[in-house]
Amino acid sequence: MREQPAPLIVTDNQDAKLVIEGGRPLQGTVDVSGSKNAAMGAMAAALLVTEDCYLENVPNIGDVVHMSEVLRSLGAVVEATSEHDLRINAAELTSSSPPTGLVGNLRASFLVMGALLARLGRAGCSPPGGDVIGQRPIDVHLAGFAAMGCRLGREGEKYVVESDGLKGARIFADYPSVLGTQNLMLAAATARGTTTIVNGAAEPEVQGLAAMLNSMGARITGVGSHTITVEGVQALHGTRHRIIPDRLEAGTFAIAAAVTNGRAEIRGVELNHLFSLIAKMREAGVMVEEAGDKLRVWREGELRAVTIQALPYPGLATDLQAPMAVLLSQARGVSYVHERVFENRLLYTGELRKMGAEVVTTGTTTAIISGPTPLIGSSVRALDVRAGAALILAGLAASGRTEIADVYHVDRGYERIGGKLRGLGAVIERV
Ligand code: EPU
Repeated sequence: MREQPAPLIVTDNQDAKLVIEGGRPLQGTVDVSGSKNAAMGAMAAALLVTEDCYLENVPNIGDVVHMSEVLRSLGAVVEATSEHDLRINAAELTSSSPPTGLVGNLRASFLVMGALLARLGRAGCSPPGGDVIGQRPIDVHLAGFAAMGCRLGREGEKYVVESDGLKGARIFADYPSVLGTQNLMLAAATARGTTTIVNGAAEPEVQGLAAMLNSMGARITGVGSHTITVEGVQALHGTRHRIIPDRLEAGTFAIAAAVTNGRAEIRGVELNHLFSLIAKMREAGVMVEEAGDKLRVWREGELRAVTIQALPYPGLATDLQAPMAVLLSQARGVSYVHERVFENRLLYTGELRKMGAEVVTTGTTTAIISGPTPLIGSSVRALDVRAGAALILAGLAASGRTEIADVYHVDRGYERIGGKLRGLGAVIERV
């Protein structure tokens, strides 16, 4: 029995840096991995049943390793049957509360709450960690649990939620929170009666979780819209489920090809999930061809400045806001970047300025970018997973050598990013 996915040699090496010799157009094809954020929900869902759940197309990334540790801390068996396949068995849960140390690594660890509540009637979890991109409250999760008849409390720093039997409810989510919606779906799948989540999240990762739950016997409809209905069923069973392609990784590669003036084919994508990105890239003058499960990206002539707004799905993903800002640093004119999901997700602009980008922020949610400005290789720091990805793109487009510290943030969410970019002709090395 193998313990966990093929070892992530570089993940958690806090000293790892990426060194990039930039200025080379990316050329060639690259395959997209399974979605990080969809994998998180799927792994939590496996806690709902005593039977095996087989997950396919799981990305080999740091967050999957961390989530595996969280599930194991609860008594679940998590076994990698190949590099991208997991078997999870939660027949014998030994705890209703993961240790604080593990939860601090990973925001998605809070998803165990919904599943444990359904299985055990009790769940505890410290405030989850995650990227420093805003306050990231969990009131949507907690208010939903309360509406389903749970008692909420604190034990030390842990949130503790208990129920004598979850009851379906009509729940209004103050904000269409992705993890909040997923948590409530997990709790509601076997609740007594029907739960309606009004103003729920429509993200593809929420749709992916619903598909898995329905394959386990759940009755969930309305996903992809903001009103999700979960008819509680008596029991769920094990399943085999394939994780959806990572739209954020696909988007990152698409922008990488465009910003380096290259030409790339990104394979294994779900084009519907990329509609907003494709629309904005085209508006900025990037050539994008959609072909089945492939996206072809190249440049013909100059890029144009555009305004982008990061919004809940189907708006442009906040996770692609920083990579798009790098692209817009190479566009002629003044671009506006509005971050409307998180209140502090523009910190990376300070690093981009070091590389020569002309970017100023007004407040913490709007960046104004004037371009095109040549980017110059520099020493910068990855502040979170997507900010780190954005700096890699800037390094690829810059002249000279860029050194990116704290690359473990990027390893949390991108499988073999250096290797995949090398496959496209990038000169990028881990030191
Ligand atoms: N919010 C609330 N109350 C809540 C929860 C959230 O007001 O109870 C607010 C937050 O303050 C924020 C907004 O809602 O302003 C969005 O937060 P959301 O809960 O939707 O984000 P999340 O579920 O914590 C997931 C992804 C993020 C992604 C966001 C938005 C996972 C594990 N994480 O986070 O992914 O940016 O949705 O789409 O699914 C990443 O992959 O790099 C990443 C950060």
